[in-house]
Amino acid sequence: MLKNLFATKSVDKLIKESEHGEHTLKRTLGASNLTMLGIGAIIGAGIFVLTGTAAANAAGPAIVLSFVIAGLGCLFAGLCYAEFASMIPVAGSAYTYGYATLGEFIAWIIGWDLILEYLFSAATVAVGWSGNFVSLVRSLGIEIPAIVASAPLAYDGTNLTTTGTLVNLPAVFLILVFTALLIIGMRESAKFNNLIVVIKVAIVLLVIAFGFQYVNTANWKPFIPELEILPNGSTRYGWSGIVQGAAIVFFSYIGFDAVSTAAQEAKNPQRDMPVGMLASLGICTLLYILMSLVLTGLTSYKNLNVPDPVLVALTAAGPSLKWLYFFTGIGAIAGLASVVLVMLMGQPRIFYAMSRDGLLPAFFGKVHPRFNTPYVATIVTGVIAAAIAGIFPIGLLGELVSIGTLLAFVIVCAGIIMLRHTSPELKRPFKTPFVPLVPILGILICGYMMLNLGFDTWMRLIIWMVIGIIVYFTYGRKHSKLRRQNEEQQAGKIPVS
Ligand code: ALA
Repeated sequence: MLKNLFATKSVDKLIKESEHGEHTLKRTLGASNLTMLGIGAIIGAGIFVLTGTAAANAAGPAIVLSFVIAGLGCLFAGLCYAEFASMIPVAGSAYTYGYATLGEFIAWIIGWDLILEYLFSAATVAVGWSGNFVSLVRSLGIEIPAIVASAPLAYDGTNLTTTGTLVNLPAVFLILVFTALLIIGMRESAKFNNLIVVIKVAIVLLVIAFGFQYVNTANWKPFIPELEILPNGSTRYGWSGIVQGAAIVFFSYIGFDAVSTAAQEAKNPQRDMPVGMLASLGICTLLYILMSLVLTGLTSYKNLNVPDPVLVALTAAGPSLKWLYFFTGIGAIAGLASVVLVMLMGQPRIFYAMSRDGLLPAFFGKVHPRFNTPYVATIVTGVIAAAIAGIFPIGLLGELVSIGTLLAFVIVCAGIIMLRHTSPELKRPFKTPFVPLVPILGILICGYMMLNLGFDTWMRLIIWMVIGIIVYFTYGRKHSKLRRQNEEQQAGKIPVS
């Protein structure tokens, strides 16, 4: 039994299946589209909302260093992802890499874990988008009644309570429109993503360029505020605050790995996957460092614990930057929308891969005959994400998305070290430099950020994983194609390939 549980699927077999299976996706994406998909998934609620919270509650102006630490963790993990993506250029991202290196059970664990990253972040960010959208249309004189514009459930840090509203309709609407777009085509979705990415990056650049002129360097002093002990015994600021800040702002980097889910739709995945992931990560890291310098330079970090820190910082600069307020609103809306789009793109491609291996029902793997997209998995993803976004508040899921993603990063880094030992002969168009140092640093930094996330988040992760393990043993294991093949080979019914 253990042998089957940890049976791996050879890289050759994975590639062959992706090329010759009956359900193949269409290769339409080049390096620039992939980079834009990465930026689309990365810049969103993290920079537009969480930077302020993390600066005010954890790190002070040293939030810049938190961005550097989280960025380094992502860079090391990104270099490992890049090696895998160039070596195994098929759909499924870390799930597929896990199948090739650590065996079916761990692959399932990763696949199940990635639902936290993709499906839950799409829902979480759609809720953030809805809040921004409602404020923007209000500033234009249109009022969307709260009863249909906010979650019927609220979360106070311990309990879920009811709010008296019905549903968060704008969030549901956004998810369903994007689901339809993703069914129609990958190329169409990528084009739309390019458009919103250009808008959001342009606005981030405007905030940086004009904001810098009004920075008051006194706001950066002290750069690392003195450690404070809070009444409940927890601490903030000081060096430990910088790491706490890194764990919070890690959310803003999530998404570069979404590029790898589209491996089977890339024209030249061996070359373009590493480019797409590392270029989008590099560009966003630079923007984040500059943006956090500007925000903490325009006003005291103490004022930034608000849902719209960019606006608060610009307001502190006085009337000269008033013209940027409206654009900031548009930037946040565009930013959050593209995150939702790319996350909704990533999830079905992981379901598709899991279904190809028999671990999920076959209908998840259905490809639309005309649009060449995994349409059933896309619909399932969209409907579940819309239901979550329509009902739940934003705070509940954010940290769960981060811990789930960090876990996947740790496993991918470990997988690189392992595969270098078990299959040194495999063709690696992109090689992670300084192995095992880089993956080990990735594991240490990402693992340390995980430890800085709250006890509740850990409990939710464990509960989610236990549910996943139950699903695996009741469905996946029984339907696994690899297991069936192995058993038939052992029984001599089919030749060993
Ligand atoms: N990185 C994405 C965001 O910040 C998830 O919204």
